[in-house]
Amino acid sequence: MRNLIDITDLSIEELDGLIHTALDIIEKPEEYAEKCKGKKLATLFFEPSTRTRLSFEAAMLELGGSVLGFSEANSSSAAKGESVADTAKIVSCYADIIAMRSPKEGAALVAANNATIPVINAGDGGHCHPTQTLADLLTIYREKGRFDNLTVGLCGDLKYGRTVHSLIAALSRYKNVKLVLISPKELRLPDYLKTKIIEKFQMECVETASLEDAIPELDVLYMTRIQRERFEDKDEYERLKDSYVLTTDKLEAAKQDMIILHPLPRVNEISVKVDDDPRAAYFRQALNGKYMRMALILKLLDEAKKSGTHAKPFECQDVIFDEHPCNNARCITQTEQELRHVCKRTEDGELCCVYCEHKVN
Ligand code: CP
Repeated sequence: MRNLIDITDLSIEELDGLIHTALDIIEKPEEYAEKCKGKKLATLFFEPSTRTRLSFEAAMLELGGSVLGFSEANSSSAAKGESVADTAKIVSCYADIIAMRSPKEGAALVAANNATIPVINAGDGGHCHPTQTLADLLTIYREKGRFDNLTVGLCGDLKYGRTVHSLIAALSRYKNVKLVLISPKELRLPDYLKTKIIEKFQMECVETASLEDAIPELDVLYMTRIQRERFEDKDEYERLKDSYVLTTDKLEAAKQDMIILHPLPRVNEISVKVDDDPRAAYFRQALNGKYMRMALILKLLDEAKKSGTHAKPFECQDVIFDEHPCNNARCITQTEQELRHVCKRTEDGELCCVYCEHKVN
């Protein structure tokens, strides 16, 4: 069974294929209006969302399918203690495809290992958010016409910002992409991502705390919100929450064809006056998310029709069961009843949890 848990589950050719389908949908929406007739999308949102949930729902409706689901954990039996694994098994009886968001890192992988229908990760804690990356890629393609030879600044909360983690993994596949990581030192990109992606794919990368210093060289500026809900120390959030505010003054130093992206929601990290600048592409980015989710639903349902039985979890991977418990407090292994701890060795010899990718001892 094909799922989308991490953006690297899709090859570069498959990403190109999704972009091609999305562009075709934009051009000829009427040809897609009944492609999912009789199919149901379940949206299981254990964490708040505006764009991801509603764009998934709009995507399925515009394909002629229907939608069921919940938008908060308290309106599902998770509030009574039902596990993600059982929820996925049950929803497989009622729907054809699942889009799931959870505050727990690795939750979508647990769902995929227990569902008999495709599962799409709509965000798992601070870990990853692959369908936001699909929206980001279509926007970069439509606005810049290429992925190669770009200097991309990622600004704000690079520690907890799951959209940044997935976008870096996607950009690592393209040629000559330079990353400029702009964050306070407390919110720098996690080490596992530096090792797993930036070093492995020998991406050119610099770290800085200054947006003003970085902005003149950027082709793409990807702003992010400081993720209040992920902070254990609320005082630290208060201290860091206004680290970066993009204003029309700061944009004067930027290239005339630089584009500004933001996964949204924004709090105050982009002044509303910037919205009138033609370089502000973040509302177009949100619309692109719907088209890419339409393309993804079509692809996964088509593959599910062909693939038949559900693959056994981890059967093809070199993994170690139960010897090295994960101690990341946000990992799904901390709360899911009877979930076995599973880790694997990375290319640099470290052991990491298969669910949240944090190092284990
Ligand atoms: N970009 C994004 O994931 O937005 P929502 O939290 O509103 O879904």
